Amino acid sequence: MSTTLDSYGEETGTKDQLVTPWNQQIASGVELLRNPRYNKGLAFTAEERQAHYLRGLLPPAIETQDIQVKRIMRNVRQYAEPLQKYEALMDLQERNERLFYKVLIENVEELLPIVYTPIEGDACEEYGEIFHRSGGLFISLNDKGHILDCLKNWPEKNVEAIVVTDGGRILGLGDLGCQGMGIPVGKLALYTALGGVRPSTTLPIQLDVGTNNQALLDDPFYIGLRQKRVTGQEYDDFIEEFMTAVKQAYGEKILVQFEDFANQNAFRFLAKYSKTHLVFNDDIQGTASVTLAGVLAALPITGGTLADHKFLFFGAGEAGTGIADLIAMEITKHGKISLDEARRKTWLFDTEGLVTKSRKGSLYDYKKPFAHDHEHIKDLVSAIKKLKPTVLIGTSTQGGSFTKEVLEAMAENHKSPIIMALSNPTKKAECTAEDCYKYTKGRALFASGSPFPAVTYDGKKYVIGEANNCYIFPGVAHGCIISGAIRVDAEMFLKAAETLAEFVTKEDLERKQLYPAFPNIRNISAKIAAAVAAAAYDLGLASKIPKPKDLLGLATSSMYSPSYCNYR
Ligand code: NAI
Repeated sequence: MSTTLDSYGEETGTKDQLVTPWNQQIASGVELLRNPRYNKGLAFTAEERQAHYLRGLLPPAIETQDIQVKRIMRNVRQYAEPLQKYEALMDLQERNERLFYKVLIENVEELLPIVYTPIEGDACEEYGEIFHRSGGLFISLNDKGHILDCLKNWPEKNVEAIVVTDGGRILGLGDLGCQGMGIPVGKLALYTALGGVRPSTTLPIQLDVGTNNQALLDDPFYIGLRQKRVTGQEYDDFIEEFMTAVKQAYGEKILVQFEDFANQNAFRFLAKYSKTHLVFNDDIQGTASVTLAGVLAALPITGGTLADHKFLFFGAGEAGTGIADLIAMEITKHGKISLDEARRKTWLFDTEGLVTKSRKGSLYDYKKPFAHDHEHIKDLVSAIKKLKPTVLIGTSTQGGSFTKEVLEAMAENHKSPIIMALSNPTKKAECTAEDCYKYTKGRALFASGSPFPAVTYDGKKYVIGEANNCYIFPGVAHGCIISGAIRVDAEMFLKAAETLAEFVTKEDLERKQLYPAFPNIRNISAKIAAAVAAAAYDLGLASKIPKPKDLLGLATSSMYSPSYCNYR
């Protein structure tokens, strides 16, 4: 329970702990139309219009929510620019929350690239110009010593999930300072649309610790602090105050997802706070889980078990090392080998070449477990020829780096090598789907980080599965919430991956499609939530006891529904 609530669930004030005088009111008339949570626009019935002082405030037509969805989609489709579509959807979220989620859920495949990567990234770049409502909390260095007060100013009291960024490294776009807010807003919209987490329980937070992006500092429309990023102890103390305050405000079970922190900080904070808080990092763990799922799904075609494969990661940052780590854990879980032995099946390749023992002195800690005994190799093709990996995963941000020679070398190693070009956006993908099939003579199994059109090779049509993190994180969050988990364990991400892989059908595999179709994603999230919750109970990390008999039933029935309610 939150330390600032008394046994009646009311805030306790002391001389040092001040209370916000929140006031509850029933909205009616214009205020009701302006309240995004309760507004239904033209869907208010005649009785509701009479009872809630809406007569004359709306045109006479009374519409169903389905017609409203159609109208919104027609309007969104008319915009030529994706950023205009993004703005139209954000406006809708600010106007009519349930309609926004219904639109999103029913058109998930079409709208995902708008509210999530890649377009939300463009939106962050333009955030200063398109900013008109915060949509979450902005906590800056000016708030040092008052972070708990900031949290108390957020009007919702039952917050269960926070996505927080410091804008240090937004997608592939670098330091966007205070303009990273679009990312937590977008991620949490997917918590709701795909994972069924109630919007009133989600809180997007932007921490502003300055920016080293000179263009933003010089931009008259920049919305953040005009100073360079603080680092070292001052930065760590600020994060510590924040992490302490979230527990004070929302209790032990508050879920905090770290998002788009710069590489070193992401690993540091995950290691530090996973011991004391319910935290995960989607860039590291969500990516790892979705990628592992793709590899597991491919096994019926490649033959053998995970342990029979050898993995080479081109790019050894948050994504690459996170995936390598989780794959090694999965091998250990199902094989009779130690984590160290499993890690020896996974090799990293970074800007300096193959990560080897001889480089250990200059390596970041998170790469060290994968620094194996081997001569140092500087170029990728030679590494592939020497190590003979059967799985090649690109997380390097280097578009086109899986050249004809690289792909041909991979085709030498296995009848069906797995090749994943995960770098985003599309132009940064290590290779295209078409090149992958062409240079491996149609033998590879390919997956990507960005959407690719289907490829026809030698008369056969191959559909390209997208290793999209949104298969994983909404279900993981929902599972943590329904079980009242107090810590996130790697086992939950293993379970999430195994569950996702089970959704890939024989027909999908005939098309070499390593991920299931998107329209099924709410069912997938529910199943993942149930698996994650089961893991929480098995590991003794669940606080909602007794354990419900039917976790899948609970996960499904507790999902947020965007359908309108009737008002008395
Ligand atoms: P990061 O910045 O942490 O890591 C990038 C790594 O690539 C660094 O280790 C760097 O040394 C290495 N690298 C850069 N140039 C290289 C070169 N020429 N040769 C070899 N290595 C090189 O970034 P992060 O978070 O790991 O993301 C990497 C890429 O993966 C991004 O493009 C991102 O969009 C993508 N990604 C895709 C996901 C998905 O498909 N579900 C999820 C997360 C990330």
